[in-house]
Amino acid sequence: MQGVTKKGRAFPNLPYSAVIIDSTYSRLLYAARQCFVYHTQNNRAAYLKQLQQLWAQDYNSNPVMPCLCVRTAFDLFLQVKQFPPGSEVIMTAINIKDMPFLLQHHKLRVVPVDMDPDTLEPDMVLMERLVTQRTVAILVAHLYGRIINMEPVLSLAQKHNLSVIEDCAECFSGFSHVGDPRSDISLFSFGIIKFSTSFGGGIAKVRDPKVYEKMVARHKQYPVQTCAMYLKKILKYIPLYTILHVWPFPAMVQKSREMGVDWKDTFVSFLRGFPNNLVQNIRYQPSSALLCIMAKVQSEFNPSELALQRVKCEYFLSNLPPSLKVVGTKSQVNHFWLFPVLVEKPDLFISCLAALGVDAYRGATQLNYIEPDGPNIPLGPPLPHHETLSPLTPDERYPHRCRDLIEHVVYMPVNKYVPFYMLEQMARVCRIVMLSMEGTAVHGSESMAVETCKTIKSKL
Ligand SMILES: Cc1ncc(COP(=O)(O)O)c(C=O)c1O
Repeated sequence: MQGVTKKGRAFPNLPYSAVIIDSTYSRLLYAARQCFVYHTQNNRAAYLKQLQQLWAQDYNSNPVMPCLCVRTAFDLFLQVKQFPPGSEVIMTAINIKDMPFLLQHHKLRVVPVDMDPDTLEPDMVLMERLVTQRTVAILVAHLYGRIINMEPVLSLAQKHNLSVIEDCAECFSGFSHVGDPRSDISLFSFGIIKFSTSFGGGIAKVRDPKVYEKMVARHKQYPVQTCAMYLKKILKYIPLYTILHVWPFPAMVQKSREMGVDWKDTFVSFLRGFPNNLVQNIRYQPSSALLCIMAKVQSEFNPSELALQRVKCEYFLSNLPPSLKVVGTKSQVNHFWLFPVLVEKPDLFISCLAALGVDAYRGATQLNYIEPDGPNIPLGPPLPHHETLSPLTPDERYPHRCRDLIEHVVYMPVNKYVPFYMLEQMARVCRIVMLSMEGTAVHGSESMAVETCKTIKSKL
């Protein structure tokens, strides 16, 4: 019905991106100001105390360690534990590359375990088979704001006397979940794209007080991050925040994308924490300004913001075509930190969405699948009661489903800032894109799917 709608009106461009900075301009400016304030030792002690009180809950009273980032606390834990070189650590096979790198730095062998993309839980049958006489620890990550059931992991660890490292970097959701008290260490991140960001910072909860004391003693020997170092990060994030969240910049960025200039990779490279010399760069204590912001942001944590994110994501999910597979829909708890979907042809899917004004992205995180160290080198000697089992082949050990997930994942621009009517529009766009892609599988080339989407946009 020509003339009923102006061209492109039915599908206006949606100026939202797959990652958000969960903060406000005034908070960024407040953080910048704190870098010029003189923080006394008493102030610093007060920030630390406030954080420790927030994180000490009745159901988990493990001691609390605020730090520069998750990787700092993880590295400290590994320094203190002093696992013998060559010991094996079983880890869920998706994480940022720095986590296995730190294990290798401590001369430990990385043994990835595959995960189920629906629950994001590790394959427990495989995990049990991967335990050998050299296994010392299990590292599980709760990905994308989903929280998995720790029970099976904890009971396996208890059975074989293994440490449990619970990577909660992506699932801060307030103080009703501060990690499982039985985990040896639970790690929370407040980096720039995390919920309740303090533009850096991490929290570790450590089960064994002796390990905790040793970590604190080592931590105290680290130089303190200067306020200038923290300020430098904030100054980088101000333009980024502006571009992502301050009108009219998101729309301008989208316009430039339509004209063939895509800034996303440049933006994302801005988000990389410590591009070089990782170990050297994480061995700092947090500046007082960072501690001050962590204490402020976390004490002001508002559960309704998190609920809003969940409701919007659930709403979008309920409007999606069933043919579009969403990651982690069967996980125990879902706070939807990101909205990952799996598609057969991710680049084509993104191009089709872009043709209809939706800005989805593959590289929104640094997450990757983790390959086994020395896949053809056998693992340590089997446990006594496993001796009769035939050893796992390299193929059986390989995390195929995690690789598949990373190779096919696309992050949708769905979050608490997107209005409901735009979520509806985005879901409609997904349906059209799926149909266009299905059509080309039968009738034509991939470029035809994009052309079809462009035509749809221009005709409506
Ligand atoms: C799963 C996971 N683990 C660990 C980290 C590291 O956190 P941080 O940047 O606080 O060191 C991240 C952050 O990107 C993450 O997503």
